Amino acid sequence: MGVSRRGLLAAGLAALALPGCGDGEQTRTDPDRKVEVFSWWAGPGEKEGLEALVADFSRNNPGVEFGNAAVAGGAGTVAKSILATRLQNDDPPDSYQAHAGLELAADIEAGYVEDVRDLYQEQGWLDKLPTGLVQAITVDGAIYCVPVNIHRSNLMWYNPKILAGMQLTPPVSWADFLSQADVIAGRGLTPLSIGPAWTQKHLLENVLLGQLGAQTYAELWTGGTNWEGPAVLAALRLYTGVLARSDLAAPAWDWQPALDKVVAGTAAYNVMGDWADAYLRTKGLTFTEGYGVVASPGSDRVYNFLSDSFTLPRGAPHPGAARKWLVECGSVGGQDAFNPQKGSVPARTDTDRSKYTGYLAAAVAEWADDGTRVVGSLTHGVVANTAWSAAIDTALAAFVQDRDAAKFARAVAVSRT
Ligand code: GAL
Repeated sequence: MGVSRRGLLAAGLAALALPGCGDGEQTRTDPDRKVEVFSWWAGPGEKEGLEALVADFSRNNPGVEFGNAAVAGGAGTVAKSILATRLQNDDPPDSYQAHAGLELAADIEAGYVEDVRDLYQEQGWLDKLPTGLVQAITVDGAIYCVPVNIHRSNLMWYNPKILAGMQLTPPVSWADFLSQADVIAGRGLTPLSIGPAWTQKHLLENVLLGQLGAQTYAELWTGGTNWEGPAVLAALRLYTGVLARSDLAAPAWDWQPALDKVVAGTAAYNVMGDWADAYLRTKGLTFTEGYGVVASPGSDRVYNFLSDSFTLPRGAPHPGAARKWLVECGSVGGQDAFNPQKGSVPARTDTDRSKYTGYLAAAVAEWADDGTRVVGSLTHGVVANTAWSAAIDTALAAFVQDRDAAKFARAVAVSRT
């Protein structure tokens, strides 16, 4: 945890009263000597990317001490509540991880983050990022974060040896998955592994995407698609069928152990974003021999995207160093150090493609392909603000138990803010 501004002031006064004891405080208040960065990249498959970015940052900024304030837990579920408390208590880190898109809207409204458009001008970033991404992070002409990557949510991971043993190829539709599921269950395997609530939401968005198609899916978040109409209700019922073929009764405690079941061959498939690629590589597995991946059923040629970005909180204790961190996040060198380790493609369009191999070579090509349709992730902050997303969490917790599609659809529709 950092130190509140009030705490710093008190500590500063104490240092004045006790000469010789103020060195530590001097370090903390020096705008360039230290940077505390808050993220949720603490677990395997996440921390390696952060470490690579930090190593490049430290090479470029030898005088700045990096304070790693990462809080473990997939999708930041734990980190986000700790961060919210810190921001409310006027105790911000120097920079925090946030998704590009509507997730940041409430923090912007609360005045927690600074506009960093001047950095974009200084660094020439506006021409180096995809227009759609810049639009997703611009609010009334201001820009409140620096994107470091693009992740893809709609992917289905599998163990090729296990599928070959059952003479199966990955399903191309959710109906196809359901018929395969009987074969898989007949062999004593779990058709689909699942983890905690956010992974159930992650699965939901990708079942909706696969069933409804990109356009109708995108309009779920903009008001153009009727949540209570027959197409969405049918997709929601199909979701309950998918859940019934999962190990929801004994879910994994996070996304990594859910993937472990696929690696071990006790489950056939797992739907997860491409941070899974980084994790599977940490297990010594290689793409395509050790693991395989396809677009989640029905979403071929669609990129359900999310983007990790970093902010400059208002009242950051070391704003000078925080700006250096943001410059690193937005740089070619930083992105090319981070993304090959993280399992994501760079947010910038002018990076060195030769650094992206295995799964990532295909991801970089698909992301850059004009024929790829781009939609935004619900679970990872792009398409819904935090209030609506939290209301969906509450409704989903009930839905996975009672399987009442109409009740869920109504709850989602009425909670849109
Ligand atoms: C996402 C985040 C990814 C990855 C994933 C699993 O929300 O954007 O970078 O960390 O959670 O924790």
